[in-house]
Amino acid sequence: MAEMTTNYWWASESFWKKMAIWITAASAVVLIFLTFDTVAKITAGGKRVPAYSVINHRIDYVFDEKRNHQVPVIGPEEPLFGRSLSESEAAELVNKGKLTVQAKNCMNCHTLLGNGAYFAPDLTKSWLDPAWGSKEVREQSMIEFLMDPSDKLHNALGRRMPKLGITEEEARATVAFLKWMSAIDTNGFPANFKPIDQADTPAEAGAQATPAAAESSPVQ
Ligand code: HEC
Repeated sequence: MAEMTTNYWWASESFWKKMAIWITAASAVVLIFLTFDTVAKITAGGKRVPAYSVINHRIDYVFDEKRNHQVPVIGPEEPLFGRSLSESEAAELVNKGKLTVQAKNCMNCHTLLGNGAYFAPDLTKSWLDPAWGSKEVREQSMIEFLMDPSDKLHNALGRRMPKLGITEEEARATVAFLKWMSAIDTNGFPANFKPIDQADTPAEAGAQATPAAAESSPVQ
């Protein structure tokens, strides 16, 4: 009886040992490939994650017919805080903002790129939030909000953000980080987001591809 079962090739112990080795080896190769592929896609300066100096430009979020969702569009030069930065200066500023976001644990309440907690709004496109007023006052309102949000009801969420002891320097860096993050191609996340009107002239506003931008009145 015992010898009958050992006659089937697929029931032999050595076959399954070899299978385990081959499957492990093949999976390792696939995972190594995927790791390199992912690192290339998430590194700043790539196709989807722009270089840090993108903060020198206007960032729009417009509907792409072909992809059937909104995509970030890097527009004309519009330096953050009115000063164009070199790639390394921009990298340093954005990195300082990222460190502030980590040190103050913003993800304890917020999501960034969809990751984090659901108490407060997602910050991926916060730079483009119409709640900042107009693009002329946005930078200053963001700095003031971050430094002391406790007396500012912003989104009518009914929840308030506490004062986190953020210095002006940290707030500026955080704004740079948020501007850079809004330029990341996230495959349309968040969906149906209505960005702030950033047009300079009425003609430009009319030429905007987004229905949201075309509807609202141009900023003077
Ligand atoms: C204790 C929870 C909490 C923490 C921690 C927190 N926030 Fe907030 N945040 C909120 C809430 C609640 C709101 C919504 C406030 C409102 O609508 O008036 C908010 C709103 C915001 C907004 C406005 C979002 C928009 O686009 O309308 C920004 C920007 C923001 N937070 C940034 C940050 C950053 C950066 C940090 C970390 C340095 C942080 N928050 C940490 C609770 C928090």
